[in-house]
Amino acid sequence: MRVIIKKTPQDAARTVADQIEAVVRGAGESGATLGLATGSSPVLSYTELIRRHREEGLSFAGTRVFMLDEYVGLDADHPQSYARFIREHLTDHIDIEDSAVQSPRGDAEDPVAEAARYDAAIGAADGVDLQLLGIGTDGHIAFNEPGSSLASRTRVKVLLEQTIEDNARFFDKKEDVPVHVLTQGIGTILEARRIVLTATGSNKAEAIAQCVEGSVSSRWTGSALQMHPDVVLVIDDEAAAKLE
Ligand code: F6R
Repeated sequence: MRVIIKKTPQDAARTVADQIEAVVRGAGESGATLGLATGSSPVLSYTELIRRHREEGLSFAGTRVFMLDEYVGLDADHPQSYARFIREHLTDHIDIEDSAVQSPRGDAEDPVAEAARYDAAIGAADGVDLQLLGIGTDGHIAFNEPGSSLASRTRVKVLLEQTIEDNARFFDKKEDVPVHVLTQGIGTILEARRIVLTATGSNKAEAIAQCVEGSVSSRWTGSALQMHPDVVLVIDDEAAAKLE
């Protein structure tokens, strides 16, 4: 695991964008497959990628995207759906087709079958070249809350109270946050060829310390990344504060 510590969230975002740009350019015309996250952590990186697209000619033509997770019950146009989030924060502003961006369908009639379909779709696309992750204050990656199996596949999960509270800021009120989500599993995520996790701010310091220096454990699911051969953590000084 490589840990890159930057002074500010803006510096971290540029480093994350460098990582993504290298994979996109490296794939050439055949196109890279990116795994993307939502939440606040990647937003500055997406803004930087949009800037590079507009000002530096960075093209995403041919790129495919698989999103990490989605709220059960929200369709792709719901203002708080993750499918809409990625359109608003990235894909509507770059040269990537909507049809090339896949998410678990939150409004699927049978969420359990949808989870299996989505997991298989990632495999059928020959997997993910670069998976971008954030991390929750309780150490979760995607929505693999503490206690999740480290071999888990895409499935339905119940959010813990802490995550509902953390995510309530995106909704009118806490009661509006869906309790169920569809999320890639830890096993699914670990199949990506490269993983880049970004975190900024002091509220992520404990999760980062556990992820990097703690034992590999389902208590802090980010610690499973220690088992992957190609992981880069891009964090700021505040998120690095509890590293030894
Ligand atoms: C989002 C996701 C979550 C977030 C995590 C951190 O797709 O899978 O694991 O990365 O909850 O959220 P933020 O970045 O909002 O602090």
